[in-house]
Amino acid sequence: MERSIINQNEWIQKAHETVSNKREEHQNHHHRHAFHLDPVSGWMNDPNGLIFFNNQYHVFFQYYPFESKNGPKYWGHFRSGNLVDWESLPPALAPGEEYDRDGCYSGSAVENNGELTLIYTGHSDQKSPKEVQCIATSKDGIHFAKAIQNPVIDGPLAGFSEDFRDPKVWRHEGQWYMIVGNNEAGYGQVLLYSSSDLLNWHYENVLLKGNEEQGFMWECPDLIQLGEHHVLILSPEGMDGVKHQSIYIVGWMDYVSKKFIPHHEGKMDFGTDFYAPQTFTDGDGTVIMYGWMNLWESSMPTQENGWVGSMTIPRVLSLNDDLKLIQTSADALKSLRKSKLIEPIKLNEKEENLATPLEFGEIVAKFHCLEGNCRSGLKLRCSEDDMQYTEIGIDVSKKTLYVDRAHSGEGDESRLEAPIHLNSDACVLHIFLDRSSLEIFADGGETIITTRIYPDKSSQGIRIFSDTENLAGEITIWELEDKMKEMK
Ligand code: FRU
Repeated sequence: MERSIINQNEWIQKAHETVSNKREEHQNHHHRHAFHLDPVSGWMNDPNGLIFFNNQYHVFFQYYPFESKNGPKYWGHFRSGNLVDWESLPPALAPGEEYDRDGCYSGSAVENNGELTLIYTGHSDQKSPKEVQCIATSKDGIHFAKAIQNPVIDGPLAGFSEDFRDPKVWRHEGQWYMIVGNNEAGYGQVLLYSSSDLLNWHYENVLLKGNEEQGFMWECPDLIQLGEHHVLILSPEGMDGVKHQSIYIVGWMDYVSKKFIPHHEGKMDFGTDFYAPQTFTDGDGTVIMYGWMNLWESSMPTQENGWVGSMTIPRVLSLNDDLKLIQTSADALKSLRKSKLIEPIKLNEKEENLATPLEFGEIVAKFHCLEGNCRSGLKLRCSEDDMQYTEIGIDVSKKTLYVDRAHSGEGDESRLEAPIHLNSDACVLHIFLDRSSLEIFADGGETIITTRIYPDKSSQGIRIFSDTENLAGEITIWELEDKMKEMK
């Protein structure tokens, strides 16, 4: 154990030095985000171990620091006092033990007796079982020691599939609970365990098993309570013919039968760059979520530049009156706002330029008079010669919000669509545009499209378009601060 802790520290140091040397070079690239968390260098996927601990927010993430491609996973680490000013810390976990030699896979964090405890999946490619659950603890929230008792769950019970990963742990009435992603006979399922000390775990049962329409494997399960209801968040593989996506199921966690009773489900996001979301509870009880703002199958142009992957903005979760999951931007992001511009929307022609250029920022666009079969919306990151732009539109006849990326620059060109209600006289889009991403919140946060776009630096125009003459409304645009440039 002594030896392995020393090894882990050496690898962590090596990773941190390699990455720090690249910081300046990457920081000035025109695809580098201004207010989203990108890895300083290397590869990033799922958010892990989100927690508010000793008045600091911690965002850990799946990380391969040495190259901008998938490799044996470390846990990267960012810390902040306010969710907008971030500091990049040395990786918290490095692979290398017998039980995690091919990766410290996804997991979660809890506070236990004043210690920050990480619960993660140890992954070994050629071994059986290939996935086990492990813990690591820290008093300062920076340096972690893997437990001598690892693995604390040495594989799934006999008869269960070896896909056994991504533990999410929480405490309820003095008892620890863990859910783990798994599958059986081609259906995804979530397994439930309990413990009194985080070291000895007792298998309870299958918390919920999916059906033939819900994919063949459930990754990254999360369970939260919102008001009187519970919400299970899952990242199914192979659902609706889609390789990876994330869904939520509203229902009831029955702590007596140890079953989740599902009521209805919905999509977390209609974009192609959203996966493996995880939540944590803020000091005031607010539930906040981050997602990985990419997908395994997305095109990733910044791989060539030495880094890849990003987190979404922090999103606050709630349920509306129809018990649909609502996602809104965390209030903390308002402190990024700089200059503000408000313009009425009134078009004399089918398409008009706004005077302000915008490389990254926040936009609230309110459209009225969306009549007949019209299509109206915004074009962002437009080049002067009209050749490059990303179109965000509302199609009234189809009742959809769409993003057309055919002219967005590098990266995927597919068109994204989401159903929206359009049952009131105004349609409001809340948009976070960063240097290489777009997050669009519609229907008050019930419908979201998250996507990466990779335009040229000089493409910064904004246009409003409509094929109805009567379009009216108002657009508010904030320039935002580039906090990532200041990251320590
Ligand atoms: C989800 C996932 C997890 C796994 C991790 C490995 O994107 O496949 O199931 O723990 O990524 O990096």
